[in-house]
Amino acid sequence: MGKVLGIVNRKGGVGKTTTATTLSYLLSKEGCRVALIDFDGQRHTTKLCGVAAPEQLTVTIYDILKCIVMNEKLPDSEDYMIRTETGVDLIPANNKLDNFDKLMCDTDFAEYKLKEFVDTIKEQYDYILIDGMPKMGTAMINVMICCDSLLIPVQSETLAVEGMAEFLRAFHRIKSHANAGLEIEGILITMDNERTRVSKRVKAQLQQALGERVRIFTNSIPRSIKVPEAVEYGMTICEYEPDNPAAKAYEKFVKELMGNGDKDTKNTGKGIESTSEHIA
Ligand SMILES: Nc1ncnc2c1ncn2[C@@H]1O[C@H](COP(=O)(O)OP(=O)(O)OP(=O)(O)O)[C@@H](O)[C@H]1O
Ligand SMILES: [Mg+2]
Repeated sequence: MGKVLGIVNRKGGVGKTTTATTLSYLLSKEGCRVALIDFDGQRHTTKLCGVAAPEQLTVTIYDILKCIVMNEKLPDSEDYMIRTETGVDLIPANNKLDNFDKLMCDTDFAEYKLKEFVDTIKEQYDYILIDGMPKMGTAMINVMICCDSLLIPVQSETLAVEGMAEFLRAFHRIKSHANAGLEIEGILITMDNERTRVSKRVKAQLQQALGERVRIFTNSIPRSIKVPEAVEYGMTICEYEPDNPAAKAYEKFVKELMGNGDKDTKNTGKGIESTSEHIA
C-alpha cells in the first residue's frame, strides 16, 4: 500500500507546489512508484509537469470526484493519468476544480470523496503525493481524511506561525473523529536564508508554538532565484540546476524524509496530541 502524503498549508505561496513536484521527481529517481495529484484549481502542478493547456483536459481530478459524487463508474486510469518525463504519474487539475465546494455542498459524506478515489489507486504506488489548496474548508478536510501524513511547507517569514492554530485544531479533530492514523510528517522551511535573524526567529517560534514533538526538518530549502527560473522551463530545480543549493537541500530533505539522512533526533513527528494547545 502506498503512503499518501498531503503537502498542505492554508497559506498561499509557501512552496507547496515546488515541494510536491520536486519531491515527486526525487522519489521517482529513487526508484519509487509515485503518483502526484494536483488538488488545486490554480493547476500549477499540472503545468509544471508539462501540460501546456490544462483547460483542454477532459478528465481531471474534478471529473473523477464528480463521478464519485454522482455514483457513476470511474473513468479508466489511462483517460486521466499523465505519465511525465520523470516517470511520475500525474492526476491533473484545471480550473474546473474551482467548483469543488459547489460540487460538494449537497453531497453526503463530502469529506470522504478524495479518499474514495485515492483508495482505488493506493496499491499501485509507493507514494501518492497531493498538492493541496491554500485554504481551510472541505477540500483541506478531504486531504486530511485521505492522507497518512501531512508535510507542511512553511516560508521563512515573520508571519509563518499565523493561522497554524486553526490548521492544527482541524488536524486534531480529523485525527480524533475520522482518520486516527493521520500524522504530521513535519515542517519543511522553504525560501530560507539561514544567516538572517528572521530565519532563526521563525524556526524558534515554530518549535515553541508546535512543541518539541512536531519535527521541523533539519534540512531547510534556501531561497534561490533559480527555483522560479526553473519553472519557466517546466523543470524542478533538481533537473534545471542539480548543483544549486536549493536542489541539494531538496535531495537531503528527501533522504531525511525517507529516514536515511541527517535527522534531528529530538523531533519524531509522532504523537503530537497537545500541539494545538501549544499554539492556541
Ligand atoms: N526555494 C525557493 N527559492 C525561491 N523561490 C521559490 C522557492 N520555492 C518556491 N519559490 C517560488 O515561490 C513561489 C511560490 O511557490 P509555490 O508555487 O511552490 O507555492 P504554493 O504554496 O504552491 O503557492 P499556492 O498556495 O499559490 O499554490 C513560486 O514563484 C516559486 O517558484
Ligand atoms: Mg501551489
